[in-house]
Amino acid sequence: MAEAFDIGARAKARCDQLGVAPYSEVDGQLTRRFLTAAHEAALTATSGWMLEAGMSVRRDAAANLIGRYDGQLPDAKALIIGSHIDSVRNGGRYDGPLGIMLGIDVVEALNRAGRRLPFAIEVVAFGDEEGSRFPASMSCSRAIAGTLDASALDMKDADGVSVAQALKAFGGDPDAIASAARKPEQVLAFLEAHIEQGPVLEAEGLALGVVTAIAAQKRLMVRIEGTAGHAGTTPMNLRKDPGPAAAEAILALERICRAGTDGLVGTVGRMTALPGAFNVIPGAIEFSMDIRAETSATRDEAVMTIGAEIHAIAAERGLSATVTLMQALAESPCDPSLMNLLDEALADLSLPARRLPSGAGHDAMVMADLCPVAMLFIRCEGGVSHNPAEAVTEADCALAAQAMLLFIDKLERRERA
Ligand code: GLV
Ligand code: MN
Ligand code: MN
Repeated sequence: MAEAFDIGARAKARCDQLGVAPYSEVDGQLTRRFLTAAHEAALTATSGWMLEAGMSVRRDAAANLIGRYDGQLPDAKALIIGSHIDSVRNGGRYDGPLGIMLGIDVVEALNRAGRRLPFAIEVVAFGDEEGSRFPASMSCSRAIAGTLDASALDMKDADGVSVAQALKAFGGDPDAIASAARKPEQVLAFLEAHIEQGPVLEAEGLALGVVTAIAAQKRLMVRIEGTAGHAGTTPMNLRKDPGPAAAEAILALERICRAGTDGLVGTVGRMTALPGAFNVIPGAIEFSMDIRAETSATRDEAVMTIGAEIHAIAAERGLSATVTLMQALAESPCDPSLMNLLDEALADLSLPARRLPSGAGHDAMVMADLCPVAMLFIRCEGGVSHNPAEAVTEADCALAAQAMLLFIDKLERRERA
């Protein structure tokens, strides 16, 4: 007989297990980027857990790990449950993996009860939600949704390795990437459970929430070019230093986003001075911009205004600037009928049906191009995320797993009706 397990709590424990080397690239912190040895180690462990839960397991050409628990008929449509296995640099343990591990717990519970449904359940570990290795993100879910542009395979990491090269070395197949795409008729729906990554549920004393929509986002790279020079010999008034211009540009971004509406936020998360030395006036400064809002229109207006300011700041100082779009994701509403099923699942657990939008990006926003999507948010301590201090409780994880099982019951009833 299989050993008993605490549903949800075990999912959390598995995230903790994956929080250290060899599931992290770096000892003493969790950094698990796409197509690294740490990614491979995490997929190997997760694959074993999927098999134990009663699933058949495969990897597709884009390095997605997919466990399938067949329905009553072998070719039944699938409810896909999933999230991402990759992390940001020095990230938390639950952002992504928790949604995968909860999916595995839920399948194991169904399997132990000997339950087969009118639909299959597939649990997917996407590999590239964070975009922490290559400049764009979500290439794995895009491959499944059939929306991955072939040019995404040419993107290079900081060492000049392309996605195609890294994917091949990982055992994926960039030439057959199109084979990862699922047909809408194969997929019933997508469900992603994820920590909230914000403070709302905790502030209201709630364990779970139902996501209404995911914010629109754009990733851009800015390069401000000046003239490299000697830090000791070049008088201040004769410099073409892009550093202070970059500082002004970031302040402009902050001012514009602070004055914005519709959840407008802007972040400069990465910045490089080139060539990068104490005693060299930089020849160029490069920095990333991540701009998000509830609507693409608000986001785009801000991107235009910030871009115009950056060009004006550079021109004022006799410098040149380029702003390059790396990725655009439109706002993505969740499916109203699936939101209702999640509300009902929460009501069955005597939990209020709190609906809230997501400022964070998720694979669900890409999967929405393929099928109806639903997202369940789980309270996290202090709303802290993208930080090693990320924390959830076992009790909340258990409630999330129960809500997912109830959602599946309700979906089954709906499909049989
Ligand atoms: C992923 O966590 C994102 O929102 O960028
Ligand atoms: Mn994240
Ligand atoms: Mn995430």
